[in-house]
Amino acid sequence: MNRLEKIYEGKAKILYSTENPDHVIQFFKDDATAFDGVKKGTIVDKGVINNQVSSRLFQFLEAKGVKTHFVEHLGDREMLVKKLEIIPVEVVVRNVAAGSLTKRLGIPEGQILRKPILEFFYKSDALHDPMINDYHIDVFGWASAGELAKLKEYGLKINSWLYDFFRERKIRLVDFKLEFGRHKGEVLLGDEISPDGCRLWHWDTNEKMDKDRFRFDLGSVEEKYQQVYRLVCGEPA
Ligand code: TMP
Ligand code: ASP
Repeated sequence: MNRLEKIYEGKAKILYSTENPDHVIQFFKDDATAFDGVKKGTIVDKGVINNQVSSRLFQFLEAKGVKTHFVEHLGDREMLVKKLEIIPVEVVVRNVAAGSLTKRLGIPEGQILRKPILEFFYKSDALHDPMINDYHIDVFGWASAGELAKLKEYGLKINSWLYDFFRERKIRLVDFKLEFGRHKGEVLLGDEISPDGCRLWHWDTNEKMDKDRFRFDLGSVEEKYQQVYRLVCGEPA
């Protein structure tokens, strides 16, 4: 499958058209940004790692019955995916308090949540991805009632499957962000699932193994991404 035209360039990925109008190539960059692009940098070989980790996790979720945009892992930084009309809503699921939840509500970082919390954010860098709820999604027409139900159902099911997947690999899935889109009338899981969009802590030590190492200059960024790659793409511990 050959790359044709660049159709979109985001902060961490580029999309190219292909000969097949239903498929696009998702190219994973090493560029890293945080805080709505205010902090910029590079994580060496992040693109290769995120492509591998996402491919593995999409295949795992497909096997559970989740419909995703994943078609094929093409090469180091390229994944063939179904072309989506993106739903402009980020679905965040949390198992442990961290990040914006701790800031917004004053909950101490690391507090285990009694049950998962699902949140929606409106995908807009200019507005700093504001938090929204079902009513905003309905009134502004960002997703239909049926699609909204799917986002919640998928979000919570994916959380429980991924939580167990990571636990078997000695990683605690603290929280993560999902994006969805429409393809031929169906809602598919899109984007990527990688240490860029998940908080992953070592199960025993709580050591951070995700993009927070870049966000807060914690060091050993590449080393921790590689460790996640080995744990996810190798055999369970
Ligand atoms: P938050 O605590 O900043 O709201 O983030 C929750 C999760 O979502 C965390 O795992 C990081 C991920 N996330 C993204 O992937 N992209 C984003 O733009 C934001 C704000 C969060
Ligand atoms: N990806 C977002 C940005 O570039 C937010 C983040 O991951 O912190 O700002």
